Amino acid sequence: MFSFVLLLCVALANAYSDPGACSGSCWAHDPNVIQRKSDGTFFRFSTGLGIHISSASSIAGPWTDLGVALADGSDVPVGNASNLWAPDVHYVDGTYYMYYASSTLGSQDSTIGVASSTTLEVGSWTDHGEIGVTSSSSTPYNAIDPNWITIGSTPYLQFGSYWDGIYQVEMTDSLTSSGSTPTNLAYNASGNHAIEAAFMFERGGYYYLTFSSGQAQNYISNPPAQGDEYRIVVCRSRTGTGDFVDQDGVACTNSGGTTVLASHDYVFGPGGQGVLNDTTYGLVVYYHYANKNIGLTVDDYQFGWNQLTWTNGWPVVA
Ligand SMILES: *[C@@H]1O[C@H](CO)[C@@H](O)[C@H](O)[C@H]1NC(C)=O
Ligand SMILES: *[C@@H]1O[C@H](CO)[C@@H](O)[C@H](O)[C@H]1NC(C)=O
Ligand SMILES: *[C@@H]1O[C@H](CO)[C@@H](O)[C@H](O)[C@H]1NC(C)=O
Repeated sequence: MFSFVLLLCVALANAYSDPGACSGSCWAHDPNVIQRKSDGTFFRFSTGLGIHISSASSIAGPWTDLGVALADGSDVPVGNASNLWAPDVHYVDGTYYMYYASSTLGSQDSTIGVASSTTLEVGSWTDHGEIGVTSSSSTPYNAIDPNWITIGSTPYLQFGSYWDGIYQVEMTDSLTSSGSTPTNLAYNASGNHAIEAAFMFERGGYYYLTFSSGQAQNYISNPPAQGDEYRIVVCRSRTGTGDFVDQDGVACTNSGGTTVLASHDYVFGPGGQGVLNDTTYGLVVYYHYANKNIGLTVDDYQFGWNQLTWTNGWPVVA
């Protein structure tokens, strides 16, 4: 009886629903999705080359690949500017700003750049280069995986990957960091400190900091121990600028973090996530994942999304 109850609990704990429908071009890597203000069209941005752009009439598709944002890459002097990573797009006063990272795999020599557009379309993007957030072996962080949020009237950028984890820096405007010292929002003291890909959003008086925990790729050449592949984790705070805790009250600067979505069924290693207030579905979490029926390489990654439900002020993928 006891083991039956235990099994039932384990089964329930892992009862995530399948990703929402996706039709058309469903490849994605570190996706970022925004709805265009003028007509509600969905634009999806992905890691690679000058940042891949796809668009659709709904988050479920049909998605069409349009090309890349920066055809010649960037000219930032750090990392690999012909292979930009982890786009993050936001809208301010008629202009869309896209942050991206330039680095190489496993290196701490990284920088964050920004491009702008008024339409989101291919051919409309102007690169502005570095914002002034750069890392090297002498910084505690790795300056990749940028994510913008405005708190009150102050803009902030979250970033970070491995090393001392997720950081936040105040911005002067969309193109320039304030130059103030970045502060630590989340750190995993265990193992190889594998957290990255921050995405923050606000709901009901709390700021929710999501990030991806675990190994992001190389699932065939360097298979992770079971459960050590990417998964999506959340912490929350009243201020958005510190004191993030998980559902058990553990500080997220001290290895805290509550799982929102992990591998299940055919879904392996969900991460690189964002949260969108979809005009049809409300708050959805979207991400890439390896579909075990398709393949485990980055070129196989699929776009996934799920509606969020809420339990005691915490987001749940039902
Ligand atoms: C930079 O990225 C391009 C495009 O992915 C790739 O062909 C090239 O090998 C990369 N260079 C380095 C030094 O990693
Ligand atoms: C999402 O959008 C709806 C409709 O525009 C709005 O009422 C709601 O407050 C938004 N939710 C969040 C969490 O921003
Ligand atoms: C922190 O890292 C350890 C070791 O890899 C892992 O077991 C744990 O789940 C991670 N926790 C978070 C919140 O990332």
